[in-house]
Amino acid sequence: MRKFSVVIAGGGSTFTPGIVMMLLDNSERFPLKSLRLYDNDAERQATLGAALEILLKEQAPEVEFIYTTDPEIAFTDTDFCMAHIRVGKYAMREQDEKIPLKYGVIGQETCGPGGLAYGMRSITGMLEIIDYMEQYAPNAWMLNYSNPAAIVAEACRVLRPDSKVLNICDMPVGTLRRMSQIVGKQPKDLDVRYFGLNHFGWWTSVKDKEGHEYINQIRDYVAEHGYLTQVEVDTQHMDESWQATHKKAKDILAVDDRYLPNTYLKYYLFPDDEVAHSSCTYTRANEVMDGREKTVFDAARRIVETGTAVDSGFHIDSHASFIVDLARAIAFNTHERMVMIVENNGAIANFPDDAMVEVPCIVGSDGPEALAQGKIPMFHQALMRQQVTVEKVAVEAYVEGSYQKLWQALTMSKTIPSAKVAKELLDDLIEANKDFWPELK
Ligand code: NAD
Ligand code: G6P
Ligand code: MN
Repeated sequence: MRKFSVVIAGGGSTFTPGIVMMLLDNSERFPLKSLRLYDNDAERQATLGAALEILLKEQAPEVEFIYTTDPEIAFTDTDFCMAHIRVGKYAMREQDEKIPLKYGVIGQETCGPGGLAYGMRSITGMLEIIDYMEQYAPNAWMLNYSNPAAIVAEACRVLRPDSKVLNICDMPVGTLRRMSQIVGKQPKDLDVRYFGLNHFGWWTSVKDKEGHEYINQIRDYVAEHGYLTQVEVDTQHMDESWQATHKKAKDILAVDDRYLPNTYLKYYLFPDDEVAHSSCTYTRANEVMDGREKTVFDAARRIVETGTAVDSGFHIDSHASFIVDLARAIAFNTHERMVMIVENNGAIANFPDDAMVEVPCIVGSDGPEALAQGKIPMFHQALMRQQVTVEKVAVEAYVEGSYQKLWQALTMSKTIPSAKVAKELLDDLIEANKDFWPELK
């Protein structure tokens, strides 16, 4: 069987060990020739790199493994780049969350002003790694998790239209896992119909392979419990604040119970509740730094100290399984059905062709082919049009270096009450992001 070379960009990510473990777990379905980590923060990456070097020596000595900050060494002759960079790292996620809260506006990694601020940072980092990939591995595919995926995807559509970059999100997969538990099935037994934008969508059908429809059964459950399930479904999305988010799906569903909502809709439909439950001094970024980041980096340091990765404390999650399945779908033309972020081009019949939407696709060696989801109701369409315009205008602001357009994007965001607040926020965000954003005039 053919063997593949993979580079993980954002090698110092908290998700890197999970993806490496998943790749090793799948070595028969997706054999590895080489595995490389690439990051622009040598020190952060080295902690994980040194631990993973030990783990690979023990579990897969045949795989060539390196970690580097040199893009030429990292990317040359790779088949896939699995990307999950965070431009500005956790320090800037903290700013994205805390600055809006000062104005009584939600502070969130990918939604509202925080998401826009992160988007303006991410585009530059993404273009950089896409260009490295195309220079050193012209045939490679980039499978990108880096957020905010909606803005990154729109920026790729506009600025790198011919690049082989696939933008993905683990939320539809993670929530499907919960749905599968609600109906007593395995996630792989279920096929969905889904439409929306990234972090802004709805399931319209959840069927098993025999064609039995579960949407009503799941809706009845969600109307009572949200997506909270009894048994641990995953290692991801398990912290208390995530449990509150799964539960909140109950309120989102009540607004329109035709379809099952993505949990991220809470930031747009219930921003006031969200702000009321937020602390201005301790946000999700702090929880992650004290939680996942600490756990993963402590585990890595322990491996290095003891010289062995037996009982390492690294684990696989549904986040990792999705990206490895996607790599397999392309490598082996599996035609697996997966929810992906793609240019609409008619997949949602009554929505602009040039919108980046999230819909089920059939994925093979040529990439994703979107499945037609038909027409959507006015309620969903209106919400999506507003949000997709925010994303498009933000990308225009980036391309043109336009202060005015970024102000307009913020003003259009459903999360911000007025143009006045949008402007005050923008001025604060510009100051906080001066090392990362393009200059705005
Ligand atoms: P993290 O901060 O732990 O890791 C990100 C790494 O990227 C850091 O080591 C950082 O040094 C590196 N980096 C930053 N800019 C870079 C650049 N220009 N080139 C190379 N490396 C660079 O973050 P994390 O919490 O592990 O998350 C990583 C990313 O994955 C984030 O963007 C996050 O939002 C995203 N994510 C997306 C999904 C999804 O559904 N799409 C799910 C989970 C995480
Ligand atoms: C989900 C989303 C990601 C987001 C992550 C944040 O997985 O799909 O896009 O980055 O949640 O999780 P965290 O644990 O970092 O708050
Ligand atoms: Mn996501």
